[in-house]
Amino acid sequence: MTATHPVFCRAIVRPPASNFAEGLTTQDLGLPSYETALQQHAAYCQALRRCGLEVIELPADPDYPDSTFVEDTAILTPRGAILARPGAPSRQGEVEAIRPVLVEYFKRLAEISDPGTVDGGDICEADGHFFIGLSARTNLEGGRQLAAILQQAGYSSEFVDVTNIPGILHLKSGMAYLGDDVLVLMDAMADIDIFRSYQIIRVDEREQYAANCIRVNDFVVIADGFAAFEESLCRAGFRPLRCPMSEFQKMDGGLSCLSLRF
Ligand code: GLY
Repeated sequence: MTATHPVFCRAIVRPPASNFAEGLTTQDLGLPSYETALQQHAAYCQALRRCGLEVIELPADPDYPDSTFVEDTAILTPRGAILARPGAPSRQGEVEAIRPVLVEYFKRLAEISDPGTVDGGDICEADGHFFIGLSARTNLEGGRQLAAILQQAGYSSEFVDVTNIPGILHLKSGMAYLGDDVLVLMDAMADIDIFRSYQIIRVDEREQYAANCIRVNDFVVIADGFAAFEESLCRAGFRPLRCPMSEFQKMDGGLSCLSLRF
């Protein structure tokens, strides 16, 4: 099998700030422990290093309690970076804080502008084809702007409306691309027609949170505690690497949200 997943060298992360618990969430799982969140974030960074990445750690930013979820601020491609424009007004300032870091690494920087909104968590790349989730955070105008920017860069894209799929904040709350034409899909998304040409690893409803996983070089980083999904990955020939994520789950965040990989 020829590997088609991208090779990543670096990840940008930002640890949670002490007011992390003041961020946005739709979950009813209780307040997160800041100390435990810091430990889990450190374990996440360690997992990325084990996958071979240089981890670029930005300082915690208490101006934005959700700022540990750096993925929502940008979409990174080998042909340039695109600054997102998060749909939650309380998060829009996070983008300016990420801009100088991206300028260091990317020659081309495009951006989503008002009235468009795009959260990076709604964008799933599959070998140069981008699924753009339309959600409570990413609107049609933002999706259209992003599709045009991607097209100019030579990429294709299509929309996936997830506004009526219960229990997910972003498109990638329910799906992941693992390379080699393999998609991980939560049960409620597994029968969507546009995914029919892929091999699908279906995530049972009881393990729905596990659908947000990330292929990083030789590993698939997954949330700890989802045995059936882990077994499915192993059966399909992948190497899972578990990370404890309970405190981020309480704040509507998944593994992909905690880094920008490139
Ligand atoms: N807490 C992550 C978000 O709502 O964007």
